[in-house]
Amino acid sequence: MLSANLGLLLLWAIAALGNDNLRVAYEWREMDFKYDTEDLRWSAIERGEFKPANVIPFGLEVSGHRLFITTPRWRTGVPATLSYLDLNDTTTDKPALKPFPSWQAHSLQETEPELVSPFRVRADRCGRLWVLDSRISGVLEQTKVYGAPQLLVYDLHNDDLLRRHILPAGQYKMGSLFANLAVEDADCENTYAYAADLGSPGLVVYSWKDQESWRVQHHFFHPDPMAGNFSINDIEFQWDDGLYGLALSKPLETGYSTLYFHPLCSTMEFSVDTGILRNKTLATSPEIYREFKVLGSRGPNTQAGAEFLDQETGVLFYALPNLNEVACWRTATDFGHNSQSRIYMSNDTLIFPSDIKVDDQKRLWVLSNKLPVFIYDELYYGSINFRIFMANVNEAVKNTACEIRTSPLPDVINKFSDILNTNINLKTTSGAPLMLASSLITISLSVLMSIRL
Ligand SMILES: *[C@@H]1O[C@H](CO)[C@@H](O)[C@H](O)[C@H]1NC(C)=O
Ligand SMILES: *[C@@H]1O[C@H](CO)[C@@H](O)[C@H](O)[C@H]1NC(C)=O
Ligand SMILES: *[C@@H]1O[C@H](CO)[C@@H](O)[C@H](O)[C@H]1NC(C)=O
Ligand SMILES: *[C@@H]1O[C@H](CO)[C@@H](O)[C@H](O)[C@H]1NC(C)=O
Repeated sequence: MLSANLGLLLLWAIAALGNDNLRVAYEWREMDFKYDTEDLRWSAIERGEFKPANVIPFGLEVSGHRLFITTPRWRTGVPATLSYLDLNDTTTDKPALKPFPSWQAHSLQETEPELVSPFRVRADRCGRLWVLDSRISGVLEQTKVYGAPQLLVYDLHNDDLLRRHILPAGQYKMGSLFANLAVEDADCENTYAYAADLGSPGLVVYSWKDQESWRVQHHFFHPDPMAGNFSINDIEFQWDDGLYGLALSKPLETGYSTLYFHPLCSTMEFSVDTGILRNKTLATSPEIYREFKVLGSRGPNTQAGAEFLDQETGVLFYALPNLNEVACWRTATDFGHNSQSRIYMSNDTLIFPSDIKVDDQKRLWVLSNKLPVFIYDELYYGSINFRIFMANVNEAVKNTACEIRTSPLPDVINKFSDILNTNINLKTTSGAPLMLASSLITISLSVLMSIRL
């Protein structure tokens, strides 16, 4: 509790205040699916194939007029595990979901079901939808493994399945759980996908061109044993999840990108150049150890979940589940407390921000789902449990450290206002003696730096 408050204080103090510009676009008490007829829906419920209370949205993606949602099969009664809603349909803010690509693809009666339990999807700029399927169902009830984790790639023009890459032995381990995905799509023919294994920490790199994958190991993928405590909505629990958030910068002059990453149970952020990861020989050799960079810590209680980098503005958006918050960092600036800000925070509507995306129309999307309540307690279906927020990226970062200031102010004045900001930070942190030492150091450092610059 104490550290929770300190963390909040710190984050609040990190930079200028966000102006909480996200607005709810969709919200549900429980999820529903679009069956062909009402009879089919009722018989699915009667047979226990559809148990609305067991369906929780987890990942989201936007492409064209479709907003995709994953609903992992953590319990029985999830009739479809990847579906979408039509953004063009403005008649309701609680639409029923339409299975993707078809009902058939979700049938567990098949000898080898097409889709078992994906957590994340990513629509690339080439019209393909990448789906990372753990292929494990019932982790909260009765675990069933349908096969090795797989990467599916669909053509969004006609929803055809283009590729199915099943991870070869050795690239997943005992306890593996692949829950996060990033796709490096600057070149449509030479695209790379990165899949994060949180259970047995590792990163699997997939080359679209070579139709081959390899597994990369690094200590930075591991959870920090001191960062396993969570307290969300009065539920206290401990997790020990490794590699989780992944985000790709736009290509650098080299043609490669920077992959930002963090374990879920960690307050640190790291990065690595994809030039290292994309070369199989290099990526699987121990010599690359030093190529991985430590960016720094966000401070106490700032374990981060999903993250996404808006390549246009270079702003990295990330979820802070312990704080019911979404925050940002402008990657063009040093990773420090002054360059990060809160975008949105709510103890009521943002309980477990589960996924974050920016679409090709500069819209920021955030999904919150009360996951700890779903896992450790029970969702109350009289209240709203799942929300999707949306905001224009520029609006979302307005008045935060992530705003790209296009003001005509000369540089000196901007620097001066930076210093003013740090003074404000000083005041707000002064109530938190434990934090004072470390934030003071950062603050004096940054004041020094801004003066020297
Ligand atoms: C959705 O709406 C947009 C404009 O709001 C329109 O351009 C587009 O054609 C619509 N798409 C579909 C599939 O209805
Ligand atoms: C985590 O929580 C437990 C139980 O509340 C507590 O005993 C422990 O000190 C906490 N650990 C850390 C690293 O904060
Ligand atoms: C991959 O890295 C190895 C070792 O540094 C190097 O010899 C090789 O040329 C690289 N391959 C490619 C395709 O760049
Ligand atoms: C949100 O919850 C935290 C922890 O319970 C509390 O410290 C904080 O004051 C709350 N914030 C608001 C705005 O209610």
